[in-house]
Amino acid sequence: MQTELISLRADAQDTYEKLSRCARALREGKLVVFPTETVYGLGADATNALAAAKIYAAKGRPSDNPLIIHIADPDDARKYIYMNETYQRLAQAFMPGPLTVVCESRDTVPLTTRGGLDTVAVRCPSHPVANLLIRLCDVAIAAPSANRSGSPSPTSARHVMEDMDGRVDMVIDAGPCDFGLESTIVKTEKDGTLTLLRPGKITVEQLETLAPVRIAQAVTASMRPGDVALSPGMKYRHYAPQTPLTLLSGGTQKILSYIRSECTADARVGVLCYREDLPAAREALPGATLYDFGARTDESAQAHILFYLLREADKECFDAIYAPLPEPKGIGLALYNRMIRAAAHRIVRL
Ligand code: TXA
Ligand code: MG
Repeated sequence: MQTELISLRADAQDTYEKLSRCARALREGKLVVFPTETVYGLGADATNALAAAKIYAAKGRPSDNPLIIHIADPDDARKYIYMNETYQRLAQAFMPGPLTVVCESRDTVPLTTRGGLDTVAVRCPSHPVANLLIRLCDVAIAAPSANRSGSPSPTSARHVMEDMDGRVDMVIDAGPCDFGLESTIVKTEKDGTLTLLRPGKITVEQLETLAPVRIAQAVTASMRPGDVALSPGMKYRHYAPQTPLTLLSGGTQKILSYIRSECTADARVGVLCYREDLPAAREALPGATLYDFGARTDESAQAHILFYLLREADKECFDAIYAPLPEPKGIGLALYNRMIRAAAHRIVRL
């Protein structure tokens, strides 16, 4: 398959014409990658089982791992879910935006799209390109992150093309994604509470202003044999670089001494460093490749760059990659969740 790369210019008429063509392709059952405020999504008509099946094939994704359906207006969810009050309150507070809500599904969503479950995950993206594309389609778009299964979600069209060139019909390039990590996912429970299935930009602290939140165990820990995954995606290894990633917790000097003691003189290592630690790291690890991971307290900057850096560092074929372990609160919980998975739980506390 020939993949058409569509670059958007800052010209409303041009954008409208190009997105109209993409919307037509989606209606014909084709695969179109589009930008969102979180990461790039690999879209197909959510109501077309054959089109949704193509998503699983293009990603190499197991067919029991359901897709999120994307709508242009929070109220459009009525066509696809049995509305509940919790959804309405969440929608009012956080949609459009980086929040996905799992509710009981209607039959309008084929089983292929929802991985055979009786629930479906709904999200209303705030990115203007995503929003206009869905509006022009006039149907929900099913879209997982546009990476091959097992690699970090793409936050730029270049990273999409590295995984998806030749596997999808169109890729819309609208520059880097704003947030850089996937949406927060919550499940609405019958008793009005929420279960957090995946942390993201909408934090637990923000959700708790609306309903009691239980954090699924897999968010901060590994699955143990016999555990049941609340979200099918939890049981699959994710965001995994080829090079082993180790997370280090402790003071800067301790971290730098540890890396020095672990690496032979000719070892090739990559290190994600908080910006203020770069001078000390340059001195302590003269042979290492250092990546600026943003200021220590700027979790949004770290979220924005994490997947980008993991992909770039992975291309260097290092012997090892090291990164600091974030604090699991606020947006830090989303960083923590993605990073412990990318590191396959290799964490050293110093
Ligand atoms: O930010 C995002 O959410 C991006 C953009 C493209 O919107 N999408 C995304 O989709 O991250 P995906 O497929 O890569 O991750 C969705 C996760 C999967 O782990 C899946 O198992 C879970 O959501 N999920 C989907 N439907 C579910 C359901 N009905 N119940 C529980 N988990 C569900
Ligand atoms: Mg994904």
